[in-house]
Amino acid sequence: MMKISTKLTLYFTITVFILEVFILFFLHESIVNSRIREEVNSIQSRGESHHDVLEDHYSRQTLEHIALMESKTDTTVVVTDNQMEPIIASDRILPEMEQIIDKTSLNSSFYPNSRILEDNYRKNDYIATVSSFHSDSQAGYIYMFKNTGSLRALISELNSHFLIAGVLSLILMVFIHFILSKLLTRPLVKMKTATEKISNGVFNVRLPRAGNDELGQLSSAIQKLSDDLETIKAERAEFLANISHELRTPLTYVQGYTTVARREGIAEQERTKYLQIIEEETETIVKLVENLFELAKLDENTFTISKESFELCPFLNRLYSKVNPAFLNKKMRLHVKCDTNRIIHADPIRLEQILLNLLDNARKYSLEETTVTLTAIPDSKNVTFTLVDEGFGIDQTSLPNIFNRLYRVEKSRTRELGGSGLGLSIVKELVEAHKGEITVRSTSGKGTTVQIHIPIKENAT
Ligand SMILES: Nc1ncnc2c1ncn2[C@@H]1O[C@H](COP(=O)(O)OP(=O)(O)OP(=O)(O)O)[C@@H](O)[C@H]1O
Ligand SMILES: [Mg+2]
Repeated sequence: MMKISTKLTLYFTITVFILEVFILFFLHESIVNSRIREEVNSIQSRGESHHDVLEDHYSRQTLEHIALMESKTDTTVVVTDNQMEPIIASDRILPEMEQIIDKTSLNSSFYPNSRILEDNYRKNDYIATVSSFHSDSQAGYIYMFKNTGSLRALISELNSHFLIAGVLSLILMVFIHFILSKLLTRPLVKMKTATEKISNGVFNVRLPRAGNDELGQLSSAIQKLSDDLETIKAERAEFLANISHELRTPLTYVQGYTTVARREGIAEQERTKYLQIIEEETETIVKLVENLFELAKLDENTFTISKESFELCPFLNRLYSKVNPAFLNKKMRLHVKCDTNRIIHADPIRLEQILLNLLDNARKYSLEETTVTLTAIPDSKNVTFTLVDEGFGIDQTSLPNIFNRLYRVEKSRTRELGGSGLGLSIVKELVEAHKGEITVRSTSGKGTTVQIHIPIKENAT
């Protein structure tokens, strides 16, 4: 597998290298061309000035003067007559010069102005221009030659400069790209290690904050995931510890009373009492296990709420008939107020489960001779259930915790009443599954008010 940093380095470098080759090539060509142009222009204009002088003052002396002047420079002038026969030259006429002159003689047309004969510095040893002159006594041509040796030397020096610059910048580029891609991929590698750790069950990973770009966001998302998983892990451990504790207590009772009940010579009345306790404790265990199963289903999202349309007030009246005997048993009063009947769209079984749980709490955590009132007020979109009791109430420090699983305000008292602390957490999950809201207000010693809003429209999501 090729590392992503290596890949990035490679791609960057290849791209920039191609660009660099193009740029250097064009730069090189234009420098060389403008240099050649300069050289050609300079011999051409010198040839023209010789031409002017010769047309005005053609004489042997002038010719010699011109030859003398050019012999001091690195250019060579050759003056010929009409037949391309040299009259005078500033230097020895080398074979290649002769060749150039011969070539022009083949094309014997008259050159009115100066002309470039050769500017290909790569192929030829000379660049050359020609111009014709026409004085009273003589007509002919002035050839200017310049050796390309110095030009070539210059260009080869330029080439080596370009080569060094190219190679150096390539090395620098590879280095920079390598560093850059390392910087870019380092957080990725860290995240990879972190996710590997998470998948191995180690949730306390720490990723450095990596800015606010996509990488940074990914990094904080992974960080959040690991934090959440850690919280869940801790919660689960605590929950399991609590459950085993909750189960152990009734099971200890069952075990203890079974031993006592089996003793011989025990009064029948005693035995019945012990068996009754065993039965009650077993009921507690069954209820606890049922509730846990309910919660497990809620957690797994395997349960579905199946909504249907039904009438609100008859539903509440049926509920009233169901629970009122328990209230009467405890010498308590229960009022159900449903002034506005309406067809609502909800899951009747789940809604009943919610209200039964709340009514159960209101009854359990109240003294005799108190009143519990359940009011249902529908509006166009929601129904609001308000359940008011005159019971023990919940103190302000415990109030935020009552929806936690297995949480009970006063462990000893609620245990006597058979509570396991799961009712309200189930209620909350069910209300949320209906996309509803639940709020609890309570004053210690005065009573508790629980309010639930639930959407009742058919198309309400
Ligand atoms: N209406 C209320 N008045 C006073 N205290 C309440 C009331 N409702 C709930 N509580 C307190 O909140 C705790 C949590 O309630 P929850 O219904 O979740 O559990 P529970 O009633 O103890 O057990 P379960 O409902 O599972 O049988 C209760 O133990 C109780 O202390
Ligand atoms: Mg309860």
